[in-house]
Amino acid sequence: MRPIIGPPVRGEDLWGRGPFINGLWERLKGNSIHLVAPRRFGKTSVMRALCDRPREGWKAVYFNAEAITEPVAFARRLIDAARQADPSWRTVSARGLEAAAEGLKAMVSAAAVGVSPDQRVWLEVRRDPKHEWEGRSRSLRRTLRKVDTRVLFAVDELAVMLERFRRHGTADGGIDLFLHWFRDLRTDPAAGLENCRFILGNSIGLEGALSRMGAIDTINDLQRLVLDELAPHDAEALLVAVLDGAGVALSRAARRRALDLIGPPVPFFIQVLADALVDAARSGRRLGPEAIQAAYEQRVVGTHGQTYFQHYYDRLRRYEPIDHGLALLLLRHLAETGRAATTTLWSIYARRAGKRRGEEDFRRLLAELQTDFYIRVDPKIGEYVFWSNILRDWWRRHHCM
Ligand SMILES: Nc1ncnc2c1ncn2[C@@H]1O[C@H](COP(=O)(O)OP(=O)(O)O)[C@@H](O)[C@H]1O
Ligand SMILES: [Mg+2]
Repeated sequence: MRPIIGPPVRGEDLWGRGPFINGLWERLKGNSIHLVAPRRFGKTSVMRALCDRPREGWKAVYFNAEAITEPVAFARRLIDAARQADPSWRTVSARGLEAAAEGLKAMVSAAAVGVSPDQRVWLEVRRDPKHEWEGRSRSLRRTLRKVDTRVLFAVDELAVMLERFRRHGTADGGIDLFLHWFRDLRTDPAAGLENCRFILGNSIGLEGALSRMGAIDTINDLQRLVLDELAPHDAEALLVAVLDGAGVALSRAARRRALDLIGPPVPFFIQVLADALVDAARSGRRLGPEAIQAAYEQRVVGTHGQTYFQHYYDRLRRYEPIDHGLALLLLRHLAETGRAATTTLWSIYARRAGKRRGEEDFRRLLAELQTDFYIRVDPKIGEYVFWSNILRDWWRRHHCM
């Protein structure tokens, strides 16, 4: 197997996710899913695998929502995806779908203008049975219902899309309306697509953003599933497969040592490390402890780590400015000391925050840093630690004194 560093992996190259994917199909029978993990854990690869090989009785289609800038464009994209899921729908009910696309467009545009100053405008439009869009979007639902399969829409990076809505001029109220519309579409028996399921993939915490907007209910129909790092034996097997592919052999002890450096075996870092080890072997180095350590320092935490982790650092700016500063303070402390009890973090926080923030806010920030994969509680010591060794190594190197 050759190293693949960056794009989603497909087919044979997708390592160790079989049981997770089977579990997803089982769960999708009952409900839609919110799939969360930091970048590069393999969410997109898993979502594409669902669409590459759908279970019998299912059609499945993937799209990335990251670049979508307004609600109406999302609605259109969804209709396109429905067409893509089954090209025969195009000929059977092309007109129905076209009409539905127009209808959704009208609805979402109405949502966007109905936001301020008065949300009722949109709600009234919505209740008006004579209004064109209603009939039209019903025809989309009829079209999809007529299909004797179930349909899975795999939508990637929804949270990034919501941020983009805001940056491109949709007010919070408009985003809120969009979220309710989307939830109704998924769940309301009158409005919903009952034979459809959604799997929404996110690498940034959707919950934090939604709870700040008071809109957390709009995803309460989704089962939240975390895509974990690889299981230890899959991690080792992936490392071996990539090394084998390049004709490089590594002793068991050396493999373990390499994987220990990475910490939680995120597949991307195994690929990066394997690639670095292959390079070192080609340049004639013996892959002893020193060469392995050097490969880790230079390639994993160094060059590749830079682009990977910079994203963690930058995305803290999504927090309110005061929380951003406080989060940096707590993370710096954790990077330096390795671990900290809640009481220690609280005293650091309270000293800086003064009267501007209270204990509730502190708990909320800790929760958000956890759902965003910066920190976790180590169950063995009952204290907070960085979510992964590599992230801590990087933080210490670049953001500590
Ligand atoms: N199951 C896997 N087996 C092997 N490599 C993987 C796997 N999942 C992810 N990767 C590695 O991570 C990179 C990014 O995968 P991707 O699916 O795009 O992750 P995400 O969508 O979570 O950011 C891939 O290029 C590959 O290096
Ligand atoms: Mg992805």
